[in-house]
Amino acid sequence: MLGPPGVGKGTQAERIASEFGIAHISTGDMFREAVAAGTELGKTAREYMAAGALVPDEIVVGMVEERLGRDDTRKGFLLDGFPRTIAQAEALERLLQTLGRPVTAVVDLRADEELLITRLSGRRVCASCGATYHVQNKPPKQDGVCDVCGGEVRQREDDRPEAIRERLREYAAKTAALTEHYSRLELLESIDASGTPEEVFGLVSEALIRRAGVGTHQVAG
Ligand code: AP5
Repeated sequence: MLGPPGVGKGTQAERIASEFGIAHISTGDMFREAVAAGTELGKTAREYMAAGALVPDEIVVGMVEERLGRDDTRKGFLLDGFPRTIAQAEALERLLQTLGRPVTAVVDLRADEELLITRLSGRRVCASCGATYHVQNKPPKQDGVCDVCGGEVRQREDDRPEAIRERLREYAAKTAALTEHYSRLELLESIDASGTPEEVFGLVSEALIRRAGVGTHQVAG
């Protein structure tokens, strides 16, 4: 799943993975877990993430390679936020070729920059379970408290204005070119992500079902 910061990749990926019965692999979530656990990977990743920069390709690719070897990917998987550079895309292609598992589709979520900034600056996340909220669109029932686990709901370190600007710059400089790359490979499904989460989910699942030529629970892999 491609798309700029804040477009709704995580929101859609979680629902798609659950409804289609496949693994949700978010490199951003994996890095945030490593940061929270205080591992060496987390310490390295945090320096880049807090500044809004991309983590170096070799670190991300190694992490994804290890993740794709786990059992829960057998029925299929959805990559959220990976690849993010041409070098990552090429590494993924080599890896999937080795595994004998072609990509079904590349979903590219699109929205205007103004909307991205509104979604990012209003986003709040649970520090314990990672549930996502938004101050206007989806506030927790009790201010600052997660509806799911009772954890503390707060702003992500990289949702500050300077980090948001840098993330949007990184996206334009390094990730936007993937649209053309996957369009050439005839895998691209561009989706208007400016509607409600429900509307966007409808468009994404329709595209995936059309691509795979099957129903839910049979899409990826
Ligand atoms: P990552 O976590 O992947 O961040 P991102 O791509 O910037 O995406 P976001 O998580 O900010 O947004 P999203 O599109 O998932 O939107 P969401 O659904 O949350 O990566 C973070 C960092 O990790 C990177 O900057 C980098 O440092 C590092 N990293 C990760 N992967 C990497 C890689 N492959 N290579 C190198 N470095 C990597 O929605 C946003 C808000 O909008 C929420 O509040 C939500 O409730 C709301 N919302 C969502 N959809 C809608 C809707 N339809 N209507 C109204 N509100 C909505």
